[in-house]
Amino acid sequence: MKENKAISGFSKLTRDQKAEWLTGQIGLDDSVTDLLSSFEPARDEWREIIADLSENCLTSFHLPFGVAPNFLINGRMKVLPLVTEESSVVAAMAKAASFWAVRGGFHTEVLGVDKKGQLHFEWKGDPSLLHRLFPEIRTVLLNEVAPFSGKMARRGGGILHMELKYLPEILPGYYQIDVSFDTKDAMGANFINSCLEQFGRSLKRFMEQQSFLSEEDRQVDVIMAILSNYVPDNRVKVWVECPVSELSGTGDTIAADHFAGRFVRAVTISRMDVSRAVTHNKGIFNGLDALALATGNDFRAIEAGGHAYAARSGRYAGLSEASVEEGKFLFSMELPLAVGVVGGVTTIHPVARLAMQILENPDARELMQCMAAAGLASNWSAVKALVSGGIQKGHMKMHLGNILNSFGLTNEQKQAARLYFQNREVSYAEVEHYLKNYAGR
Ligand code: MEV
Repeated sequence: MKENKAISGFSKLTRDQKAEWLTGQIGLDDSVTDLLSSFEPARDEWREIIADLSENCLTSFHLPFGVAPNFLINGRMKVLPLVTEESSVVAAMAKAASFWAVRGGFHTEVLGVDKKGQLHFEWKGDPSLLHRLFPEIRTVLLNEVAPFSGKMARRGGGILHMELKYLPEILPGYYQIDVSFDTKDAMGANFINSCLEQFGRSLKRFMEQQSFLSEEDRQVDVIMAILSNYVPDNRVKVWVECPVSELSGTGDTIAADHFAGRFVRAVTISRMDVSRAVTHNKGIFNGLDALALATGNDFRAIEAGGHAYAARSGRYAGLSEASVEEGKFLFSMELPLAVGVVGGVTTIHPVARLAMQILENPDARELMQCMAAAGLASNWSAVKALVSGGIQKGHMKMHLGNILNSFGLTNEQKQAARLYFQNREVSYAEVEHYLKNYAGR
């Protein structure tokens, strides 16, 4: 019987004790222990790496790690490592890569690498006085983070810019110190947050020491110090282009110019209609997140920043653009991407390290470019399918394996079913019908 009582000290239990408690608490059967241990990494050292990534770890959760070859990016052929559970994503990206590889490939340009953090605080004194004091405050803050910003500076990165912003429209007496950083090849979250927290302590101390101020004006209330995942100055551009006539031969039944027109109109809709924009952008992040996950990057940060950028005009819109001008088809996208190639999961996780090797150990700028190409490729495949026959045919073909697995078939039965569905429409109902009528189930 499930107890409605909080457990204390759960995190201190061993893994087996946690599993035992869970089994009793939820009423799971004993096969759970077996399941948990069979999904654990085989080697002790890997088990520890996974367990140390997160609290209360019971096992690891497997997702497919695959690759999409033939990604020609700025004239260099790349293989992209991808982690996704969505059956059709890797196949669609690989198809897009091959299609564009013989049409010039993906072109990319990094438009900036500045990341941002904010110190949020309240101060009740005269705002013009704080603005006058700010050059001195800036010097003090920079000096006091020097011990830990020195290492970053030696790598060529560090603090780029600091600005004081007075924002009484948000809260009375509310200020931000807006800081931009170059974190080079690291995503830099820990570096940025450590600097900002030190800024908070230094600012408080500096103000307390200003003896010409009243007792009240010497008090600063630091509300929080944190990086921002909105990084519009850490941006990359990606595009593919070709003469419209070269859009033929894609295996589509519609003519090249007809296809190009429909594609451009579909992208236009995503730029004007929020319901479509969200799904359109989901198609971009299908590919982009898969590469972010494979390389141990923080896909939540990337997505949050990408969606905010998609709404920068005040209305959420599709991130990509398409046009046909003078017979040339152009499909492009700009988006912020804060990524790292050193530190964190990228360095610790053995499979993320392999992903970096597959990518030929890119620096952060190169990884931004690969991610942007991954996003545009999955967006291309989705919109291409949508405007020329729909996504379900391809999607369900790839999904067939999942449906067959849900019926718990043997390998032989699955093989027979795959053969049967080779040239037939796939759906759950059709598979059920086939199994009942032709496979004797
Ligand atoms: C499905 O995961 C993604 C799509 O819905 C994207 C789109 O509609 O553009 C196919």
